[in-house]
Amino acid sequence: MTVLGKTIHISIDLILVSTCLAGLRRNTGLTPKLQTIENMTIRDYMSRYLNMGESIYDYSVATCGSSPYFGRK
Ligand SMILES: *[C@@H]1O[C@H](CO)[C@@H](O)[C@H](O)[C@H]1NC(C)=O
Repeated sequence: MTVLGKTIHISIDLILVSTCLAGLRRNTGLTPKLQTIENMTIRDYMSRYLNMGESIYDYSVATCGSSPYFGRK
């Protein structure tokens, strides 16, 4: 596998994890405790990462909500 392919693969994995965390948060209210991270720089990046997941989650919900292939139970 090329370095680029690996990078893309890791990025997609990270995005999926972030989206999963957003779904978990929306459904259960559980969220990683960012205040346990001492380093402000890393904490800032983590919160951006989680926000990115939420954006993707919201986008997916909106897309599925307006799709004829998805319904509500
Ligand atoms: C946090 O971590 C980054 C990268 O590891 C480092 O450059 C920075 O100095 C650290 N900041 C604090 C406040 O410890």
